[in-house]
Amino acid sequence: MKGIVLAGGLGTRLLPLTKITNKHLLPIYDRPMIYYPIQTLVDAGIDDILIVTGGKHAGDFLELLGNGRDFGLKHLNYTYQSGEGGIAEALGLAEHFSERERICVILGDNLIEGSIRDAVDDFREQPRGAKILLKQVPDAERFGVAELVGDRVIGIEEKPAHPKSNYAVTGIYMYDETVFDKIHGLTPSQRGELEITDVNNMFIEEGTLSFAHLSGWWTDAGTFDSLRRASNLVSETRRTQG
Ligand code: G1P
Repeated sequence: MKGIVLAGGLGTRLLPLTKITNKHLLPIYDRPMIYYPIQTLVDAGIDDILIVTGGKHAGDFLELLGNGRDFGLKHLNYTYQSGEGGIAEALGLAEHFSERERICVILGDNLIEGSIRDAVDDFREQPRGAKILLKQVPDAERFGVAELVGDRVIGIEEKPAHPKSNYAVTGIYMYDETVFDKIHGLTPSQRGELEITDVNNMFIEEGTLSFAHLSGWWTDAGTFDSLRRASNLVSETRRTQG
């Protein structure tokens, strides 16, 4: 399976911090934010990784990450998103890289305590489709929210005012090669973006979306509060786990 880290966007919710750098290069405790999602993929046994970034500071990623030696990698791939067309648009740029292999996608501002290795291994055995990871949160309206019936996800709503559950869809997604056909069929949402939630709903309609519950803490880091929370969680974990 190939890995893709999505690290574009303007990071407007973090202005002025993101005026002179990319959000994913900001510090989380003792490392730049993007180190964490790359490490999550590497820990799951994924070592063929593409970084999708954009904006004025894209060159800084090359300088920081190089060929991925800090992660024990020999090579990293990079591609450039010229627009601000959303997560699904950024993922569309990975079509060439994927070479019709299965992919594991992680948003560059998503940090986790545990491992996704079991979920990735389960997805390797899944005949086709997609797999998402869910986490119960107190502020579901900030995220994509899954509606569950029994052991099935029957729909996902993007940042609903009145969430139907407290299960957030985390920014870790696994897809088969049909994801790119689905992205080609998307139209922009009200916020003018191609939404990953629309892609996931297409897999639900097809009956091929599975899910797992993410264990350990999970946070994004795209707002001032979540940025601080991420640093606190990492430092606390380092303190207790050494
Ligand atoms: C994105 C997705 C959302 C998901 C979240 C996870 O939201 O659109 O469905 O729950 O990432 O971090 P964003 O906060 O990037 O707008």
